[in-house]
Amino acid sequence: MKNNNLFGKDILSADQFTRDDIEMVIERSIKMREIVKTKGATDILHDKIMAALFYEPSSRTYGSFIAAIQRLGGGFIPLQGISYSSVAKGETLNDTVATFASYSDVIVFRHPQVGAAKLASDSTTIPIINAGDGPGEHPTQALLDIFTIIDHFGTVDGKTVTLVGDLLNGRTVHSLITLLLLYKPKLIQLVAPEELRMPANTVKRIKNAKISVVETESLDEILANTDALYVTRVQKERFQNLTVYEKLKDRFVITRETMKHLASDAILMHPFPRITEIATEVDSDSRALYLREQITNGMYVRMALLSLVLQK
Ligand code: NCD
Repeated sequence: MKNNNLFGKDILSADQFTRDDIEMVIERSIKMREIVKTKGATDILHDKIMAALFYEPSSRTYGSFIAAIQRLGGGFIPLQGISYSSVAKGETLNDTVATFASYSDVIVFRHPQVGAAKLASDSTTIPIINAGDGPGEHPTQALLDIFTIIDHFGTVDGKTVTLVGDLLNGRTVHSLITLLLLYKPKLIQLVAPEELRMPANTVKRIKNAKISVVETESLDEILANTDALYVTRVQKERFQNLTVYEKLKDRFVITRETMKHLASDAILMHPFPRITEIATEVDSDSRALYLREQITNGMYVRMALLSLVLQK
């Protein structure tokens, strides 16, 4: 077995992973899928407690982490409405984190500010898992996304990945690109309105990794050569001016018609929540993985991560 480099570690950024780490998470996720499918659960973390400290709304990340720890036999402290706790009385982030760290073995943490998970990790010695820090990063989502791609195609190498939507504010795509750069995709295509383009330093990172990258505002042209089409929501909560949001939100909408231009062996992904950017008529398309594999993979990957972080 490979050395478990993730034991006892914070999971703060996709940047911290090596290709070996990803492969270890994938291998473990496949085992977790097997366990869930055959037995439903195990008790390897029966002596562990996970606190889920969420300062921002969440359905899948929160729900899948809770399901993951339970399927591993552990307990949890559910703090989705953390703003209703002593935080409402003005308690500092430091004090809140230190408090729940004294009850638990790992904290899963979501916050609207970039870098907040790092700050939280400075307040405790127990591992902090970043479940999204504003428009910054979402490393566990990136792991489940890359797992979904690799599980489907067997590899990322040689594949063309097209990211669509709010590439400026969408944290999932920021973290996913970091993981993709550990592999050798053939091409990364970035489709966004001018106002929501991928940050220039991220585009530069792709170029520096000697991976071809295309930035465009035209989706139709680049569908035919896409293997994985990854669509994101325009992040309403990050806009100062909602008129701008209204103008941009439906710029790229995947419909049954759009799907005709996508190769028959391509896949369609979305981290969810989906608002209007993928029409529900597309859900029954066999290439649409978002409501099937991608979401359940989230639970397997989080089971894998919790077990790796909490056990040697
Ligand atoms: C994403 C997030 O929170 O960044 N959702 C998720 O965790 N699956 C995507 C989004 O909110 O658009």
